Amino acid sequence: MKGLFITLEGPDGSGKTTILDMVKKKLEEKNIDVITTREPGGTKIGEDIRDIILSNDNVALADETEALLYAASRAQHVSQVIRPAIEDGKIVISDRFLLSSLAYQGVGRELGIEEVKMVNDFGTKGLQPDMILFFDIDPEDTLKRKTADEAGDRLENEGNTFHRKVYDGYKELIDKYPENIKIINARESIEKVSNQVLDSIEDLIDERRA
Ligand code: TYD
Repeated sequence: MKGLFITLEGPDGSGKTTILDMVKKKLEEKNIDVITTREPGGTKIGEDIRDIILSNDNVALADETEALLYAASRAQHVSQVIRPAIEDGKIVISDRFLLSSLAYQGVGRELGIEEVKMVNDFGTKGLQPDMILFFDIDPEDTLKRKTADEAGDRLENEGNTFHRKVYDGYKELIDKYPENIKIINARESIEKVSNQVLDSIEDLIDERRA
């Protein structure tokens, strides 16, 4: 049987990474094994690309180069990790995927949703998640928290106007392609957010594997 591909999306600091760790543990307690991964990264080559993209030394990075590097990291990730795992019947959960590029580069950097989608479709051969969980929370609140104790990375340091644009971009994309996107209320307690995520994943597994 074919596996499942689930992705987590949302503004910087929306809690995806913490929740993913919790949900993975809870699923394992129920004997459901999942592979968790992230973007940019997920492979050795992808992690090297991630370092280039997020380094504060690279303020000269052109917007187009940035979009292509995210797409390159994603192409490697799909080819080396995600597609083989899905074909092997595994459940893969990725912290960020294509929708991040459409929101951050397509809308935030104003490169155009369709243009960014085109280069990514080339890189991924059109692979789409079975379900996207969007962590809905105001970017102003999360950024304040994230950059308060330590210096942010190159993207986090883009400022509130950029991150508001990205958030509005996500909302526009959800209106445009609502099919397999679920909204998670990420303003609630960690426990409640992780339960929303867990319930959505279990519902999808039940639906697909019934
Ligand atoms: P990361 O530290 O993983 O952020 P977070 O924990 O909030 O997910 O850094 C990833 C950064 O890269 C984040 O600012 C979002 C951005 N990004 C894009 O702009 N485009 C993309 O396609 C992806 C995957 C991430």
